[in-house]
Amino acid sequence: MAKLIKGRELADNMQEQMRLEVEALKKQEIFPGLVVFLVGDDSASKTYIKNKEIAAQKIGIQSKLENYPSDISEEALLAEIKKYNDNPNYHGILVQLPLPEHIDEEKVLLAIDPKKDVDGFHPLNMGKLLLGKPAAIPCTPYGIMKMFEAYEVDLAGKNAIVIGRSNIVGKPMAQLLLAQNATVTMAHSYTKNLPALAKQADVIVSAIGKGNFITEEFVKEGAVVIDVGMNRDENGKLIGDVKFAEVEPHASYITPVPKGVGPMTITMLMQQTIQACKRQEL
Ligand code: GUN
Repeated sequence: MAKLIKGRELADNMQEQMRLEVEALKKQEIFPGLVVFLVGDDSASKTYIKNKEIAAQKIGIQSKLENYPSDISEEALLAEIKKYNDNPNYHGILVQLPLPEHIDEEKVLLAIDPKKDVDGFHPLNMGKLLLGKPAAIPCTPYGIMKMFEAYEVDLAGKNAIVIGRSNIVGKPMAQLLLAQNATVTMAHSYTKNLPALAKQADVIVSAIGKGNFITEEFVKEGAVVIDVGMNRDENGKLIGDVKFAEVEPHASYITPVPKGVGPMTITMLMQQTIQACKRQEL
């Protein structure tokens, strides 16, 4: 039987610590603020954003949603970002991805002041991560590293496989594992013999977005299995990338979906907002 990595519980504990930290900052007249940009009304994005707002409220972070119509021009959006770069009441700026096709994501991410980039998606922050000198770290991989820390999963010398090479999860995840001295394999849609390759790994991080894709065929006895998937099954139920009931008996540690990685992502966003605030104000 695998030990369950309880992301929800860890997130709640961390958020309580953050609440106390924010309370102390407020006594010094410092009020951490986060602005979230949503362009259009993608329903998955709206769910993420609602959860972010709930967490911010719990912790005492001032959170504002800017919802722009999906046909906002790139120029107008960039001007809005500049407005918040210059607004000292907001220490963190998050632009929810994906953006509509007519808006160049790279231009948008470059426009965010790197000091306010609480997602860690600005090329400067991505570059720092690659150099092993991180400032802001993409929240999902950062939350996963906190889970390893909390459950004392030692990564040094371990074979880790990251499945999925997105800029948001896969690539930064690989860098963070490398920084902890794991031997990292990055797998993606062109990878050959994925199940056999994954079966050599001591640690599997799956971020491919295909429900129940990771079966027991992928998992070595005693492997640590982290499921980043947020997929919907045919009944609209939230399911992970990992076929949990089948994989769980073979794993040493496993994350559930929901209540696994998801709450940690949001928690790290809050942490980085507080950090950004302290860097700007103290
Ligand atoms: N879209 C999906 N995940 C994320 C995230 O962590 N941050 C942003 N900005 N957009 C996302």
